Order: sequence, then structure tokens, then C-alpha cells
Amino acid sequence: MAIIQAVNLKKKFNLEAGFFARFGRFVYAVNDVSFSIEENETYGLVGESGCGKTTTARLLVRMYEPDEGSVLFHDRENVLTLKRKGLRQYREKVKYIFQDPARSLNPRMTVYEVLVSGYRWSSRWPGEQKARAEAASIMEEVGMAPSDLERRPAEFSGGQRQRISIARGLIMQPSLLICDEVVSALDVSIQGQILNLLLDIRGRRNLSFLFIAHDLKVACYFCDRIGVMYRGELMEEASAADLYEKALHPYTKLLFSSVAGKTPAVAQNEMNKEKGFFQSEVKTPVTELAGCAFAERCPLADEGCFSGHPELRILPGEENKKHPHKVRCFKV
Ligand SMILES: Nc1ncnc2c1ncn2[C@@H]1O[C@H](COP(=O)(O)OP(=O)(O)OP(=O)(O)O)[C@@H](O)[C@H]1O
Ligand code: SF4
Ligand SMILES: [Mg+2]
Repeated sequence: MAIIQAVNLKKKFNLEAGFFARFGRFVYAVNDVSFSIEENETYGLVGESGCGKTTTARLLVRMYEPDEGSVLFHDRENVLTLKRKGLRQYREKVKYIFQDPARSLNPRMTVYEVLVSGYRWSSRWPGEQKARAEAASIMEEVGMAPSDLERRPAEFSGGQRQRISIARGLIMQPSLLICDEVVSALDVSIQGQILNLLLDIRGRRNLSFLFIAHDLKVACYFCDRIGVMYRGELMEEASAADLYEKALHPYTKLLFSSVAGKTPAVAQNEMNKEKGFFQSEVKTPVTELAGCAFAERCPLADEGCFSGHPELRILPGEENKKHPHKVRCFKV
């Protein structure tokens, strides 16, 4: 059963404030995005900076309200209609871990207070004594010492602070953990340790993950299934193994080629030089797109790609699969 389903989510932000807002220039951050995450599944959302990964995740927990679409929890509960108590209970089950642990942990609190500050007001609060025992055990689970509970976040390194964020995410026994670029602010050597910790946690607990990353290879290593996003749209969706072996969308291929020590922009320039293309920045669209969102960067683009908008289509032969390989491209 799907633990969560995003159904045709759309979110645009007004670029102008105040008087200028009336001119209505929008960033189409999330453009008709649908996906589901099964129980115990790890789903990856991957794409370059600004493609709408965080906005999508924030729509799931209603840190932003979508303009259109819905979010279903356990196939039935419409998250968007939840009122205060229901929403609070939902957010106990769906926990969000942020990219930057330095900013998301209150420096004035002790680690214990950080861990229980939300828990204390939840329906599951077991009382101070039991909560302390639970906090100590979760600290050990994330590779920290129970005595660290009395210290403050500033006393720890970036990797240790991310462990504390993970502990805070786990203390209410969530069923879905959203990890938004949890390793990208860390040194490469520390990244591996945090990923291994997440793998351990996944092995021990009945947990689904939404794993957000810009590094496709890291996502392939960690995830069961992956959605590749570009300019607010899903461009390709497949199991991590399928994507790794036979990525089909030109953008996914670009992301793979950029993993080999090059940034997407450098890989793009090399790819485009051969084809006579030059543009290489990602721009989030400020007008609704007529053609393919990737057309300006795509080495295969022709006239039709600038005028027609490709649908996310199931690959022939995959129609009967529960989670078929899907691609949004005229040429595949
Ligand atoms: N609160 C906001 N107000 C206005 N624009 C926003 C807001 N949040 C996001 N955006 C814009 O929406 C687009 C998508 O942003 P988002 O943060 O979702 O991307 P992302 O894929 O998470 O990028 P990154 O990898 O850098 O975290 C960007 O163009 C961003 O500038
Ligand atoms: S539809 Fe055209 S522009 Fe878009 S990815 Fe496919 S070939 Fe490239
Ligand atoms: Mg982000």
C-alpha cells in the first residue's frame, strides 16, 4: 500500500512583492507532479538546484499549500483537508529533516530539549522520565552518547548535528522520513557515514523515506525508486536499478554524465559543444511552458520540442507493472 501519494501537485510563487505583485510574474516551482511512496520504500527526488524538490516535499507536509492537486496518506486521508489536530497527528508520522542542521537546531536548547520540543506537545508524550530514556536510546541509535543530551548543538560538528536532526526526526516513531539534502552540506567523508547511518535505520525500522538529492549516483545507491525533476516537472521515473542501467531521458543522462566529477553545467557545455548548443543554466520557468521544459538545453531538441509539451508516458511493455518506467520525452 502507498504510504503517501502526491497527485497532480502544482505550486507557483509570485516573483513580485507589494504593488508589483499585480503584474503576476510567477515561478512555476512545482508543475503537475504525481508520485507515490510505498510502505518501507525509499523514493528519491533528484535534480539540480531550483528544480522544485524542496517545494514538492514542503507541499507534502503542508509547509506550503498547493495551488492544485492533493496529497493522500495511506490511500485515503486527504492531507490537504486536515484541520489542526489531524494535521498535528499527521506531522508526527511524517518527519522532515532539513539540509542545514546548523540552522534547524535551536542553539539555546540542550540536545534533549531539541529532541523532545515537538514530542512534548504531541498525543504520544510518555512523560519526562520515559521520554528521557527514549531520547538516550535514540542517541545511541544515531551513534551519539546519551550524555550528549545535556550539551548544546553548537558544541558538535556538522555531521554530529545532522545525527541529532535525525534523532529528532525519529523520536516520534514516524512512518515516513523526508530527508532533504541531508548530506549535501557535509564533507564528503562525513556524507558516507550519514548515508550508512540512514541505511542502518532503514534496515532496523519500518520506515518509508523520501530522499532528496542532487547527486543521482548517491540516490541510486540509497533509493528503491527515483523521480528525476527538472523545472518543476518529473522527467523520468523508474526503479533505481533501471535508471542506473538504462536511463532514457536526455536530462537523466546529463545528470549521470555530470556525476563523473563534473558539474551538470560543465557536462552540459561539453555535450552541447558537440551539438552546437550553448545554453547551460537551469532556469525555473516564469511563464507556463509551451514546449518541453528541457528543450533549451537538450542536444536532441527539434522544432516540435519547443512547441509541444511532452507527457510523462509509460514505456511500452511496462503497462502492467505496478511502478512502470516513465519518461517525458518525444524522442524516447
Ligand atoms: N518561498 C518561496 N518564494 C518564492 N520562490 C520560491 C520559494 N521557495 C522556492 N522558490 C523558488 O521555486 C523554485 C524551486 O525551488 P526549490 O527550493 O523547491 O528547489 P530545490 O530543487 O529544492 O533546489 P535546491 O537543490 O537548491 O535546494 C526556485 O526557483 C526557487 O527560487
Ligand atoms: S522532448 Fe525534445 S527537448 Fe524534450 S527531452 Fe525529449 S528530445 Fe529533448
Ligand atoms: Mg532544496
